[in-house]
Amino acid sequence: VKSPVAIHVAYERTETLERLRALSPRAGFVIAGSDHHGSVMMPPSPAPVLLLEDLSGTDALFVRVQAAASHDPELLVVPLVRSPRRDTDAMLFDAGAFDVIDDGPDMEAQLLRMASLAQRFARLRQEHARLREVLAHQDRLSAVGLLAAGVGHEVNNPNAAILANLEVIRNQLENVLSHPRFQQVDLLHDISSDLLEALGDSIGASRRITAIVHSLNIFSRKAEDGVARPLNINDEVNTVLRLVGKELRFQAHTELDLATSMPPIVAQPHAMTQVVTNLVVNALQALESKRREERCLTIRTRFDDDSVMLEVADNGPGVAPENIGRIFDPFFTTKATGAGTGLGLAITRELVQKNGGEIFVDSELGRGATFRLVFERIPEVAVTKRPVSRMPPANERLRVLIVDDDEMLLRSIVRTLANQFECIPRSSAARALQFLREDDRIDVVLTDIVMPVTNGLELYRQLESEFPALAARTIFLSGGIRSEELRATIADTGRPTTAKPFEIAELMRLIRAIERGVAA
Ligand SMILES: Nc1ncnc2c1ncn2[C@@H]1O[C@H](COP(=O)(O)OP(=O)(O)OP(=O)(O)O)[C@@H](O)[C@H]1O
Ligand SMILES: [Mg+2]
Repeated sequence: VKSPVAIHVAYERTETLERLRALSPRAGFVIAGSDHHGSVMMPPSPAPVLLLEDLSGTDALFVRVQAAASHDPELLVVPLVRSPRRDTDAMLFDAGAFDVIDDGPDMEAQLLRMASLAQRFARLRQEHARLREVLAHQDRLSAVGLLAAGVGHEVNNPNAAILANLEVIRNQLENVLSHPRFQQVDLLHDISSDLLEALGDSIGASRRITAIVHSLNIFSRKAEDGVARPLNINDEVNTVLRLVGKELRFQAHTELDLATSMPPIVAQPHAMTQVVTNLVVNALQALESKRREERCLTIRTRFDDDSVMLEVADNGPGVAPENIGRIFDPFFTTKATGAGTGLGLAITRELVQKNGGEIFVDSELGRGATFRLVFERIPEVAVTKRPVSRMPPANERLRVLIVDDDEMLLRSIVRTLANQFECIPRSSAARALQFLREDDRIDVVLTDIVMPVTNGLELYRQLESEFPALAARTIFLSGGIRSEELRATIADTGRPTTAKPFEIAELMRLIRAIERGVAA
């Protein structure tokens, strides 16, 4: 549903306001105004657009746009200039203008266009806010995961000792009990089966702890495990089927619908087999409630110009609507105690995301569930398919060296910037320096601050001594610096810092500022 955009006009001439008000009932915007000689210069929230009329010259307008834009970054500041327009738009955009319109005869058309852009912008912002929430949620989850893995690690060694000892005791006891002399001891004979059963249960429980700790480790493991390489996801499906195929044929009717000539994705093969296995196991477990001859499992792969898709679908009971938002959370399970840990899907999502993909679920209660993985096709393929004219030639594009130890974030930054800049991602300061020593044709360095071994500040110091020109072209990405001292030292460098999750526009602005040689 489109709601009209509220435009607040800071006007100089009352007739401007009147003219705009006359337009507004027909168009997708609502006009409110204040004489900006009056006290209200900033519009009362939630006016998303501030239309600034200024007759006292471009310089004054420039300053006012800048002031309004920096006062409230959410506000879309639109200067209204006098027609005919002079060639000052670029300057106003630099000052932070969202759009520039003039009071010429097609003012209405310009306003309409601006209102529609503003609407779209608001929707993107909402989506952005939603994604931020999702990210924050996942941050919390990964903190839980780390903690759990830490605990798991501590539990593992004593548990291994318990398991080993229990097995020794069981073996010895079995030996002793089978000895003819002890067969005659009635008391021992009576309790022997109880003892053995108790031991057997203890050993089973201890093995289960081992399995849980193992899952926890996978869940919290870093992306370095296993090298990502181009692979065909159909091959991974076939690997899994080889592993569980026999069981599968016996358990459910399995339909394979694999696309031919699948384009490759870049992923860790081991992670992909784990992902497919988890989904297949879940589907089989869900199908247990159905009669064998009615159970159906479908594995499907598809692709289009941008992405590669894998679906694992079953016709089991499906996921209850109240659970659908939680099934990917670690430890969420609807299975009986002892039957499920609730880590399968959490691990699956972790692995999928680490490999640049996304996972979706589609389910209706009673109608089964479909889990869909979507991966990006590898860039080489996409780039060659695109008409060359859509990108400026590589030698004219700024080269941005991006340094972040979080490979997923690194990939997402590249994805964000790649259509504007030539991006060179490196996952550590050492790798970045190694790159620079071979090829220092870099225009901007974008570096994370908190990184293992060599942090962003140390990298900056290294640049100062080895590549001073680049030190002066560095932007820091900060993901929340805990050390007050580090924060102060970073501030002392005088280099711009932008917080993660960063605003794309802000990042672009900083990079462009460096390009123009302006202190940002
Ligand atoms: N194919 C499916 N159909 C219906 N519900 C499902 C399906 N897959 C997962 N679920 C639901 O999601 C929950 C979480 O799944 P997940 O794989 O994370 O844990 P689990 O299977 O319960 O335990 P684990 O995988 O650790 O042994 C399940 O308990 C189940 O309620
Ligand atoms: Mg599972």
